[in-house]
Amino acid sequence: MDLFDTHTHLSMRDFERDLLDVLSRAKSVGVKKFLAVGFNFRSSGESVALSQKFPQIYASVGIHPHDAKIVKEGDYSFLESLLSSKKVVAWGEIGLDYFRDLSPRDLQKAVFRAQIQLSKKFRLPLIIHDRDAHQDILRILREEKADEVGGVMHCFSASWEEARQALNMNFYISFAGNLTYPSSRSVQEAAKKIPSDRILVETDCPYLKPFPDRKGRNEPQFVKVILEFLAGLRGEKVEDLALRCWENAHSLFFQGSRQGLV
Ligand code: NI
Repeated sequence: MDLFDTHTHLSMRDFERDLLDVLSRAKSVGVKKFLAVGFNFRSSGESVALSQKFPQIYASVGIHPHDAKIVKEGDYSFLESLLSSKKVVAWGEIGLDYFRDLSPRDLQKAVFRAQIQLSKKFRLPLIIHDRDAHQDILRILREEKADEVGGVMHCFSASWEEARQALNMNFYISFAGNLTYPSSRSVQEAAKKIPSDRILVETDCPYLKPFPDRKGRNEPQFVKVILEFLAGLRGEKVEDLALRCWENAHSLFFQGSRQGLV
């Protein structure tokens, strides 16, 4: 079985001391590829650096809504410079976070819009972070014509109606550890209905360790736990769903307009 953990933060300090062990534990359950996702200037640069060191790691660049308040005019040029690496396969994670509200919402929206425009300029699929902001996320994606690049609704936390709207804008739906939580009923209901050619799995490690052992650091080996849970929900064979997710990740990240670069 080949698995692709499509959302990790392997560049974080949490993995500094034992990254090689983390990668080998992942490999032992079939995780062969990883996307190291940037969420600010520093982590974007570090994710790209990791992707240059390890052939199985790919990278994305972007500024998370938490950091919207410290973005300055012209700061995006650093992220643009990182795109010279052929292993950058997406723009994100970007979006809106009304749960923690660490930046004023007007600034979150402005930074979100600016980066959608950049993703279109460079023809990169988007990685979307949506925390309690479903309606504004979908409206802005529509207004900015994000369907031209598509992308993924990472760590999906909404319901089928929001999923349906995202699917209509060429987005994939990615499930993380929160899918396995007993409180995630509407996410689980949505997961049963996502077309099999638009579904992805991820860990979002070091966050969101799957149920039932939610304490401590999450790591890519647990993407298999999420996949097995998802297959159970959908009444599919684990091996079949693994293959679909693997193919979907390749379609999204490696067969876009930058095809031939990777
Ligand atoms: Ni993330």
